Amino acid sequence: MSRARVGILISGRGSNMAALVEAAAAPDYPAEIVGVLSNRAAAPGLAYAAERGIATASLAQSKFPSRDMFEDTMTQVLESWEVDFVCLAGFMRILGADFVNRWAGRLVNIHPSLLPLYRGLDTHARALADGAGEHGCTVHFVTPGLDEGPAILQARVPVLAGDTAETLAARVLVEEHRIYPQALRLLATGQARFTP
Ligand code: GRF
Repeated sequence: MSRARVGILISGRGSNMAALVEAAAAPDYPAEIVGVLSNRAAAPGLAYAAERGIATASLAQSKFPSRDMFEDTMTQVLESWEVDFVCLAGFMRILGADFVNRWAGRLVNIHPSLLPLYRGLDTHARALADGAGEHGCTVHFVTPGLDEGPAILQARVPVLAGDTAETLAARVLVEEHRIYPQALRLLATGQARFTP
């Protein structure tokens, strides 16, 4: 079985990246994680990946004269790893249209809300402020509009009495770690496709 080659972009903790790495450790998983790139050198997720023998890179956008040059360099790193797919996993930069279009159909993200609800940041606090009865997460293809691309998988959790943004986020995160590996499996096997 030839496995799809996957690069992951992170900015911090990297728990979703770790969930993908753990899933890909199974011999029958259809994808392998070949590289992890962070825009922050101090991202804890980079150490996790390096300890497991995965290639890592860090690129600070502030060191580049423009966003396009930063993103072109990210593409060069991903191409050097010969990736078929790119997973955003807590990558806290909005990507420009050139980068998104370059990887169209091969670029996915995990977002902590039931999209199209709560695009952007602070999703848990916003769901609580609205009195939402449920919340969740979405793995979706990335398109130039923020958190707008078509969904691959979603998972729902109840909002419980007494929830804070932190307790709700923790309940959603368990589901993120469950569905991201499932969604990457669908992508790597061609069962999830998107042609813009
Ligand atoms: C996750 O909640 C993810 O949905 C969001 O940012 C967070 C990243 O967490 N995009 P981690 O770095 O994967 O632990």
